[in-house]
Amino acid sequence: MEKETEEKLAKSLTAETTELLEYIPYLLCDLWEIGSSPYDMEELIRKNIKHYENFEVLDLGCGKGAVSVKLAESLGIHVKGIDIIGDFIEFARKKSVEYEVSHLCEFVLGDINEAVTMEKDYDIVIFGAVGNVLGNPEETLRKLKKTIKDNGFILIDEAYLISSAESIKYKNYEYLPYDEWLCIFEKLGLRVAAEITVSAEQEVGSDAEMAFIEKRAEELIKKFPEKKSIFTGYIQSQKNEYEDLEENVKGVTWLLQKI
Ligand SMILES: C[S@@+](CC[C@H](N)C(=O)[O-])C[C@H]1O[C@@H](n2cnc3c(N)ncnc32)[C@H](O)[C@@H]1O
Repeated sequence: MEKETEEKLAKSLTAETTELLEYIPYLLCDLWEIGSSPYDMEELIRKNIKHYENFEVLDLGCGKGAVSVKLAESLGIHVKGIDIIGDFIEFARKKSVEYEVSHLCEFVLGDINEAVTMEKDYDIVIFGAVGNVLGNPEETLRKLKKTIKDNGFILIDEAYLISSAESIKYKNYEYLPYDEWLCIFEKLGLRVAAEITVSAEQEVGSDAEMAFIEKRAEELIKKFPEKKSIFTGYIQSQKNEYEDLEENVKGVTWLLQKI
């Protein structure tokens, strides 16, 4: 994998260093959902789109397939998920079998930077908490837009800076204010069909998830004491990101339509 791809991959997983990448599948082994809320994505589709039954959906940076499998299961739509971590793709495939939707799901190992140049004509493209892997917000949305049909949809899970934000704790990501996002949508011909914002109280899963990750990090520290700093650094980054979500930024999932 190229250095830049590795660095962006690490950032998409809140990792400070690419050295951590080989341990990510283990650190996240107790979790299925590692980014977006499948329930928010499902609700946005169900409530705002008519006749989604035969939709073809592309899930870029699908992680362990939580969103794809749950959408296939609850809405009966076809999903193609692409991720660069082989263990995640393997996990996603197993889950699609467990949930009896393997006939609706295709999980492929690949780099989404290449995928966006080849994948076309989808009804919906999902970009769930993947960060700046495809570039800045405008570049990202331009690339996503090319993968969908006319009047197709983009489902993007992001976070925007709130106006009272003081100092951002998680420094690896540049958050835009809400209005700047709206300007980009307008410039690119994207209509906000709907949005769901996440309040701090709704971030309830976070404590339980954090506990799982911390437990795995402790095991790794015992096994590789010389690498303690990369594991403690990872935990700290996760905490900083959660604290920002409580104080400085708001998690949001937008359903955008190409007009
Ligand atoms: C925070 S996770 C989100 C996963 C999933 N979208 C979800 O919401 O559950 C970010 C994902 O982006 C993937 N990723 C990062 N860079 C990538 C790339 N260049 N190509 C494919 N996947 C990539 C990571 O492997 C990881 O699974």
